[in-house]
Amino acid sequence: MIIYSCKNIFTAKEGVDTAIDGYFAVEDGIITAVGENPIPADLKEKAEKVEHFEGTICPGFIDAHTHLVHGGARENELQMKLAGKSYIEIHNAGGGINSTVRSTRETSHADLKKKALKHLDTMLIHGTTTVESKSGYGLDMDTEIKCLEVNKEINEEHPVDIVPTYMGAHATPPEFKGNKDGYIKYMIEEVMPEVKKRGLADFVDSFCEDEIFSVEETERVMQGAKDLGFNLKVHADEIVPFNGAELAAKMGAVSAEHLMAVSDQGIKDMAKAGVTAVLLPSTSFFLMSPIYAPAKKMIEEGVRVAIATDFNPGSSPTENLQMSMWVACFKMKLTPAQILRGVTLNAAHAVKREKTVGSIEVGKQADFVVFDAKNIDFIVYHLGVNSVSKVFKNGELVVDERRVVYKK
Ligand code: NIG
Ligand code: FE
Repeated sequence: MIIYSCKNIFTAKEGVDTAIDGYFAVEDGIITAVGENPIPADLKEKAEKVEHFEGTICPGFIDAHTHLVHGGARENELQMKLAGKSYIEIHNAGGGINSTVRSTRETSHADLKKKALKHLDTMLIHGTTTVESKSGYGLDMDTEIKCLEVNKEINEEHPVDIVPTYMGAHATPPEFKGNKDGYIKYMIEEVMPEVKKRGLADFVDSFCEDEIFSVEETERVMQGAKDLGFNLKVHADEIVPFNGAELAAKMGAVSAEHLMAVSDQGIKDMAKAGVTAVLLPSTSFFLMSPIYAPAKKMIEEGVRVAIATDFNPGSSPTENLQMSMWVACFKMKLTPAQILRGVTLNAAHAVKREKTVGSIEVGKQADFVVFDAKNIDFIVYHLGVNSVSKVFKNGELVVDERRVVYKK
């Protein structure tokens, strides 16, 4: 057993919004005791070693919304964005999701895996120890399975835990152009059963948005997923108000994500149904949008709010969750405690892992981050640099002085 002690530990325990001057014990990768300093003598006696850290400790970050596995990059869209073209205009001009679909189809399993592992290392260096990872840049059976298999392998080979999501309803692929109903049928009757059979996804997500999938179409996808036993997520009200949050509540989704254009009714419905809101401030920032999800209002109305990167090549090409945290503070006006809760315990709820990760509490995985910051405010205040000094995953040191140190 090892005991770690620090003057500032943000445990993320429900209801505790300040850091404690405390300690926690770790045995076989699991937290076995947590408390305020001083460390009780009998516990100290049993410890192999007591390690004291300067700075601030938080639970490992959980990035609850990413599109991690994809081919290529889309910096070619930057000039169009600067010229004022909208996300949907770029999408309709053959850019956007479908251009990444082309690259992902062309990229081999091995190359996709190599690329995803590199992104994962970058995430880990910035404090992320659990990542939700959506497919949805393959769309056809073979490429979706290829991407989900990559997720499975990197989950086994890399210290970061992957929560896999099937997101065939990300766009209608070219082979189903003009036949969205056919594509929905294909997903429900062919792809989803195969994904389920192979155990390749915990969740099914859909992009409910004007010109992408209507509320009625999304509902069909969600119902098909539910019937097969998947948990549900939905990309809701990202660009225009669309009753996506209302649909998430109605269908019993675990989370609704984006929500920049959520309605008042949608907020109320989510609070009532216990749907976690996953907000993606770096996406608003990157889309050069003045509109951010009404995070404060949601919290006031009793919605559990998580913050994630939305890491993807088109609307949020950053692996760094701290980027989303800065924007959550300076654009959404969330407090550091609200933000840290949003990337830890609330994010764990968004991926249904709240029993095992997301806080420094007895019985949870010893996933934690040591920050080069004198208090929790400073983590968010120190802008534009990586504040992480060390990362522990299941009790093992995996990042030291901003470099990965796990065995490859
Ligand atoms: O979450 N909203 C849908 N999908 C991504 C964007 C994907 C892309 O542009 O490639 C998102 O923002
Ligand atoms: Fe997304």
